[in-house]
Amino acid sequence: MKAETKTKIRNLLGFVLLYKRQILALFFLSFLSSLFFLAGPYFSKLFIDKAFLGKDLGKFLSLSFWGAVVFVFSTLFTLAGDIVKNRISVKLRLNLSHKLIRKFFSQDIAFFHSKSIGENLFRLSDTEITANFLLEQCPQILSDIVKIILILGICLWLNPRMTVLLVILSPLFLIQSFYIQNKLRPIYEEIWRFSAYLYKELNEAFSKILIIKALGLEDFKRRRYLNSLVKNIRWRIKSFRWGLVSSITSSFLSKAIFGVITLYGGWLIIKGELSLGSYTAVMIYLTQLGGLLESMGFRLRNFVQESVSLEKLFEVLHARPTVRDLPEAKSVKNVSGEIIFQDVWFGYQENSPVFKGLNFHIPAFSWSGVVGPSGCGKTTLFNLILRLYDPWKGEVILGQRDLKLIKIRSLRENIAIATQQPFLFDASIKENISYGLKGVTQAEIEDAARITCIDNFVSQLPDKFDSLIGEDAFRLSQGFKQRVALARAILRKPRLLILDEATSSVDSQTEEKIFNNLKEQRAGLTTLIISHRLFSIKDADKIYFLKRDGQMETGTHRELLSTSHDYREFFANQTE
Ligand SMILES: Nc1ncnc2c1ncn2[C@@H]1O[C@H](COP(=O)(O)OP(=O)(O)OP(=O)(O)O)[C@@H](O)[C@H]1O
Ligand SMILES: [Mg+2]
Repeated sequence: MKAETKTKIRNLLGFVLLYKRQILALFFLSFLSSLFFLAGPYFSKLFIDKAFLGKDLGKFLSLSFWGAVVFVFSTLFTLAGDIVKNRISVKLRLNLSHKLIRKFFSQDIAFFHSKSIGENLFRLSDTEITANFLLEQCPQILSDIVKIILILGICLWLNPRMTVLLVILSPLFLIQSFYIQNKLRPIYEEIWRFSAYLYKELNEAFSKILIIKALGLEDFKRRRYLNSLVKNIRWRIKSFRWGLVSSITSSFLSKAIFGVITLYGGWLIIKGELSLGSYTAVMIYLTQLGGLLESMGFRLRNFVQESVSLEKLFEVLHARPTVRDLPEAKSVKNVSGEIIFQDVWFGYQENSPVFKGLNFHIPAFSWSGVVGPSGCGKTTLFNLILRLYDPWKGEVILGQRDLKLIKIRSLRENIAIATQQPFLFDASIKENISYGLKGVTQAEIEDAARITCIDNFVSQLPDKFDSLIGEDAFRLSQGFKQRVALARAILRKPRLLILDEATSSVDSQTEEKIFNNLKEQRAGLTTLIISHRLFSIKDADKIYFLKRDGQMETGTHRELLSTSHDYREFFANQTE
């Protein structure tokens, strides 16, 4: 067996064992509810051999009574099984969704970059199949196996010869079943892939509807969607065909085996080696066995389909974020905001480093600026400071502690960021500014709005701070959106505030005003401003000039002008 298959089986067993109590409870109930099903044929034998052929009324009445008792109990067990299944089902679905969503949120940013939003949404919506696997398939397969063993045992006791013949013939059934499941597996994988792709297409289309309309891409997108849909349907038709082949062959085989055994049994009766009652009982048991084998074939088919979904689920459940808390990591409070990069090597892809041994020091409580050409790694700097990624080598130190020794949550409580892309939530302006914070007063919100110079604009809106922004904030200008996002960052009064082109869409006069307000509010705190516009950070305490080759020069604006040729050129280009 291939190592990959072994891992898959181990994963599946490990997962099923997590829910063993629920599965066993459902198995017992399902098994008990089929007592009548199992005992029925034996009662037939007793009726024929003892009551009918012996013409015994007393036996007839007592058998009828016990038959009724078994029937009532098995009906009661069916009812109890349904009630318990419902209860377990609700809990299990909740537990599964909770586990999955927690796992999703614990993943690092690289995980989300490696999979599309649509695919992840599809994974979440696919938990229904997993629940079905645990609640229906596992208990039923167990119960079917036990029933098959019991029926074979009873038949063996009633008539060993007929049963042995059955045992010899039944591998035919298993061979066809496994052959077809092998054919079906890759088909189900394709169906999953295309279903996830359809989610991705729809998600992308709706979230980027503006640009699709603006570029007149509706037909293009519609065709792409339909194309994938047709491919998906083609694979489904293939799976349907194999499903049909599977059910026809299993039905044919089970009937053929049944036929051979019937004839053999008839021959035994004629020879006087089998009673009519035993023959009837064995034949009814064999019919049941045929039904069970057919249903096992059907379950096996479902099992293959569900195992594809389960593997996709395991990809998330077993994914371990590379950026995670070390056991020795500690919470920190009120860090100074001092940052040191010590021989930092980092890149997003192997063999393509953005930084090759970067060293610099941002003093605590400073107002610093980072400038540099596009793509030189400015945003990467703040990705590393926020520990969205870990450096390949070297250390990033915040307040004298390596970031890896600080609990991620605590680190991010000390830092706030505002980026060029203002991420706003589908809520009011007020909620957007105070998002996720408890106990924020209206005065604090208004103060943040004053610092970012949106207070005047907001006061003119009919609902003021309660005005709704909308999911993509389409009702606001880009510059306004950036300032709402900035207000959200500064309301948190972080020890370290990082602005990454956070005011790039704001006119320079307003930007200057905002920065003056901010300087006042952030006296005694550390602020790092990443900007294309050199002008806006010219008077920073220190400027970090990042060059395209990942090298850095530092100094005040004046110092850099006199010492760095590249900086002079960069400055000259901007003032032209
Ligand atoms: N998620 C990512 N995966 C792979 N490469 C990336 C990723 N993010 C950035 N890069 C690459 O890393 C380099 C530095 O990117 P970064 O975004 O830090 O530049 P920047 O200085 O912020 O640019 P800009 O001024 O345009 O915002 C670029 O070459 C970019 O293509
Ligand atoms: Mg950037």
